[in-house]
Amino acid sequence: MTLPEKLCSDRNQVNTALKTSVPDDLAEIFEPIRGDLGAVEEAYESHIQSRVELIPQMAGYIQSSGGKRVRPAVLLMASRLAGYTGERAVLYASVIEFIHTATLVHDDIIDDSELRRGRPAAHSRWGNDITVLLGDYLYIKSMGMALTYDSIDVVRLLCDVTLRMIEGELYQLTKAGDVDISEEEHFDIIRRKTAYLFGGAAEIGGMLGATDDDGRAALRDYGFNLGIAFQLVDDLLDFTAEQISLGKPIGGDLREGKVTLAAIRLLQQAGKGSRADDIVRNTVNNRTITIEEWAELGSLLREHQAIDYAYDKAVEHAKLAKKQLERFPPSAERDALHSLPDYVLARDR
Ligand code: IPE
Ligand code: IPE
Ligand code: MG
Ligand code: MG
Repeated sequence: MTLPEKLCSDRNQVNTALKTSVPDDLAEIFEPIRGDLGAVEEAYESHIQSRVELIPQMAGYIQSSGGKRVRPAVLLMASRLAGYTGERAVLYASVIEFIHTATLVHDDIIDDSELRRGRPAAHSRWGNDITVLLGDYLYIKSMGMALTYDSIDVVRLLCDVTLRMIEGELYQLTKAGDVDISEEEHFDIIRRKTAYLFGGAAEIGGMLGATDDDGRAALRDYGFNLGIAFQLVDDLLDFTAEQISLGKPIGGDLREGKVTLAAIRLLQQAGKGSRADDIVRNTVNNRTITIEEWAELGSLLREHQAIDYAYDKAVEHAKLAKKQLERFPPSAERDALHSLPDYVLARDR
């Protein structure tokens, strides 16, 4: 059995047991919106229907592969926090998941990453040409769905955060292979490619409810900081995780030429001409690393507290996220949103 096949069968067993793609610990946090999250899955499924059979086939494959559904959950919980009880939240939550899905299928082509959610990535199965078009379809479909209720301000916000995300991916590509990337440049990438979408999800929740401008801004800042913490941890998992639980390849960032925060810190601390500098430069230039060098890099990252440094930044942003919730009255949703940053800090997938 090849590794992707093994991961695939492991993941299917997990899904059968849980009857949901959301991992156990997250499902507990999402308990207050369990019904709505189920409705998001249904909306997703109904919107991928097309007479071109390949579309439901591919989008269904990706949907059933799993995924944590963090962004739609944030939107749903934020809308409840803002006092909203109507049905629009479910549609917008599925729009957010559509945008996220489009991002992932394109991102895996760009990153030449073969595994996603424990299964062969869409492009590994269907090829780049078809998968690019599926991503395009999902993007446009998401905007069409968002127009259902004629709320032009929501559509404008979605366009805005999606454009920033694409800018982030493009900016990251222009920085690929650059070992001299600064911390600030790296944070700019993180904000664009991940944090604005998280911020947008939470803000749409606020827009649906009866919250004032400050409340809406607090929700946006919650999502934004959660998104930064989320991406920082994602980048750390690329160094520290087990591939089997992460469901995507580890070590890929450096091999793709992406020098993320822990590596940036390591290079700062170890200095030019050091062993760490050699390993990082060689990996980025040759787009490959030996098992021995990978182990050595792990030791160097720990020795120079580079992992701790990046993790502390994630903790800072997780705290900032939680702080935004103080202005809202206590509720099950507020507790859930409060637990989410801690989940993000502790996650292993
Ligand atoms: C992966 O996002 C892309 C990043 C922003 C790091 P998720 O980790 O939320 O992906 P799924 O939806 O759970 O697979
Ligand atoms: C996340 O970036 C993709 C976007 C948010 C656009 P990554 O490339 O780090 O995500 P993974 O690691 O492939 O999930
Ligand atoms: Mg990637
Ligand atoms: Mg990553």
